[in-house]
Amino acid sequence: MIQQMTDNPDIFICPACGGSIKTAGNKIECLQCHNQYQIEDGIPLLFESNESDGSERNVTALIKSFYEETPFPNYENLENVGDLIQKAKRGVFARLLNDQIPFNIRILEVGCGTGQMSNFFGASQRYVFGTDICLNSLKLAQQFKKRNNLQRVGFYQMNLFRPIFRDESFSLVICNGVLHHTSDPFAGFQSIARFVKKGGHILIGLYNKYGRCSNDLRRFLFKISNNRFKFLDSRLRDKTINDIRKLTWFRDQYKNPHESKHTFGEVLRWFEETGFTFVSSIPRTKAFETFSENEKLFNPASCGSRFDLFITQARLLLALNNEGGFFIMIGRKKF
Ligand SMILES: C[S@@+](CC[C@H](N)C(=O)[O-])C[C@H]1O[C@@H](n2cnc3c(N)ncnc32)[C@H](O)[C@@H]1O
Repeated sequence: MIQQMTDNPDIFICPACGGSIKTAGNKIECLQCHNQYQIEDGIPLLFESNESDGSERNVTALIKSFYEETPFPNYENLENVGDLIQKAKRGVFARLLNDQIPFNIRILEVGCGTGQMSNFFGASQRYVFGTDICLNSLKLAQQFKKRNNLQRVGFYQMNLFRPIFRDESFSLVICNGVLHHTSDPFAGFQSIARFVKKGGHILIGLYNKYGRCSNDLRRFLFKISNNRFKFLDSRLRDKTINDIRKLTWFRDQYKNPHESKHTFGEVLRWFEETGFTFVSSIPRTKAFETFSENEKLFNPASCGSRFDLFITQARLLLALNNEGGFFIMIGRKKF
């Protein structure tokens, strides 16, 4: 029995036909199409494929097998909730989110990987549903949850293109570093935007077209040198990071079989076309405004002009940073 499914029977649907589902013992059955789904190690296996296995590249299958081999991020040295909290405190983003997300709300994390963020929020009074296509990642997430007896979080195998939740079931949907590993990021965004309640928020993290240039250059140099110039990435030369974490990072950043890059303007258009308003971003989109340690992530800010977006992305290009050229945007669903 999956407690979270029993407690929230109305929000789940069949990923194949959208019908209502029921759980009985270790099986889940659709009341409409009668498809049956298994539960393994407490994880409902609700994955449905979205791409044919024909001659075109099946990105979902490719990415799934990539992450099955190297689940991301890795749990090295993270045994208990205290360790997770320490890790979150070291990064401004997780700390700000934790300080500013209300308690007792329902959160969906799409593409949760090994579920560190889901477990972190589940440990701090939020009801979290962590989903991913990769079962090996979900198993690590589930092991951490069980070891720490985290009752408010649950993990589900789900393809974001084949939803297992009804529309408008969540106050916050988080999708960090996922859509750029899909065949159609905008279609993916539309698929997950439906889960957000009116007035609720969506948080999207993507590779930036300009910020990612330095990564692309390093990837090229690694390729032509047979990986001899790894020292060009600060994480890979950091002596405090162990070899397993370095390998996970290296594969995720430089050997990923599929990634796309996006701009602030593009995500603003996604928001516009899907009924969301811009709330905030990291980095800030207004030129020359810097992101502060006390940023109010859910207070609506101005997204600035085209000139602002140009300057901000030019700064990302010139920063030559090692964080993968990432940007985050938060939107609010209109009533
Ligand atoms: C780079 S990892 C990010 C993990 C986590 N969000 C984080 O920030 O650490 C990308 C994750 O997206 C998942 N993913 C890719 N395509 C997906 C899809 N179609 N549906 C659900 N998850 C997907 C992968 O399995 C992988 O775990």
